[in-house]
Amino acid sequence: MQHYQFLRNLCFLLAICGLSGVVLAASTCNTCQDNNVKCLNETHFSFCSSGVDPDQVIGCPDGQVCTAYQRICMPQGAPPSCTEVNCPACDGSSPFVCISRTTFQTCNGKELGEQIIKCKDDTFCSMSSGKYCVDRCVALNLQSTFECDKEAT
Ligand SMILES: *[C@@H]1O[C@H](CO)[C@@H](O)[C@H](O)[C@H]1NC(C)=O
Repeated sequence: MQHYQFLRNLCFLLAICGLSGVVLAASTCNTCQDNNVKCLNETHFSFCSSGVDPDQVIGCPDGQVCTAYQRICMPQGAPPSCTEVNCPACDGSSPFVCISRTTFQTCNGKELGEQIIKCKDDTFCSMSSGKYCVDRCVALNLQSTFECDKEAT
């Protein structure tokens, strides 16, 4: 019986973490969306329709963000489909910096080391843990988002 409880809690946890993964993966830049535009960053987009020159960059009105909805630009608060990601720089306080969700580089004081190091499968870069790479749940419990929330390139 206790065993069953444990398994149920574990499944619940995994489901929550899996869900947050889906939400995070929803941040897409430069991808044609159902509303026939692609968001270039949080505020600018271009059209994906074959009849419109794709090089034209259109900005949303002040205070609005580019979304995947039919109404392309919506007031801040709506989920932008493409958000700029700020990743930390070597500032002398950490022996390494995350350069994506799953990769990091060492720091030599304020200088970035040359090599890009990958986290093991299913682990994520975490500076606040001090352990380089940790489970998704651990990373997201320490910080509400990944410290460098973008795909490894
Ligand atoms: C978004 O992209 C457009 C077009 O490339 C650029 O002009 C604009 O400055 C960018 N906005 C931000 C906040 O980076």
